[in-house]
Amino acid sequence: MQKPIRKAVFPVAGLGTRFLPATKAVPKEMLPVVDRPVIEYAVAEAAAAGVTHMIFVTANGKSALQEHFDRHAELEAVLRSKGKTAELKRLAAILPDGVRCSVEIQPAPLGLGHAVWCARQIVGDEPFAVILPDDVVMADTGCLAQMIACYTATGGNLLAVQDVPPDRTDRYGILEVGNDQNCPGGLAEIRGLVEKPAPADAPSTLSIIGRYILQPEIFSALENGEPGAGGEIQLTDAIAALIGRQPVHGFRFQGVRFDCGDRQGWLAANVAFALQRPDLEGIRERLRRLLESD
Ligand code: UTP
Repeated sequence: MQKPIRKAVFPVAGLGTRFLPATKAVPKEMLPVVDRPVIEYAVAEAAAAGVTHMIFVTANGKSALQEHFDRHAELEAVLRSKGKTAELKRLAAILPDGVRCSVEIQPAPLGLGHAVWCARQIVGDEPFAVILPDDVVMADTGCLAQMIACYTATGGNLLAVQDVPPDRTDRYGILEVGNDQNCPGGLAEIRGLVEKPAPADAPSTLSIIGRYILQPEIFSALENGEPGAGGEIQLTDAIAALIGRQPVHGFRFQGVRFDCGDRQGWLAANVAFALQRPDLEGIRERLRRLLESD
């Protein structure tokens, strides 16, 4: 019997340089996909998977994210006085019932691994999820819920993975794989991890995306780790240190992933989510006309 996953860590203290100048004053996880900020998709996915405690690791001066999840009494009063019940409902849905939030500050952007380490006291001695909100996954069953269903049987550490084009391995954490079920929803045994290898040196084309289920021992692996690629404390290095001591598996999730930290990925996510919205049905015709006139 595995301990349940009740907590999720959202590392959101990065600089978002790929999206400048949009991210100069607005944190990238607050950029909207259609009409909800990117972070809201991640929180909704975690809540749907049974997570009840959301832990944001953020940087000083990024108050917009906290404000988004706090109640806004004055705005609610104005909406109520104007009879705007649909809008009130939308505000109430930002944070599902029974969910609480904590904020931890990463004092400097020392890397993703360091950001996760900053959450160690709130997480404590239990398995937890890590969600990188930049990766928005469109799926019938949320990516984390799929992972937790699998984790309940396998335990250990589970990383969501997908194949990337062979010439792009230098943008991702790439896996060295043992036994591989190689099917949607299947598991791949992980024997090693390499951060952003050149295509010629890549052990496979299987890449980690921003969803992890980790055991609390990751914190001591992070604490003992040396800075890796880019001088940053890498989460992949700490996970690699667990291999051989604990099970570490890749999980081929079902769904479409959009990298919303990248301009093209973010634009594609906006189009894909808009096309699913009955209230925005005019978008299909507009896109068709734009493509025809191109
Ligand atoms: P990225 O690699 O996308 O880096 O981080 P970034 O700084 O956010 O964006 P670019 O590359 O400059 O455009 C992946 C995730 O890890 C978080 C980011 O906020 C993002 O959610 N992160 C990264 C931290 O929380 N702290 C860090 O020190 C680094």
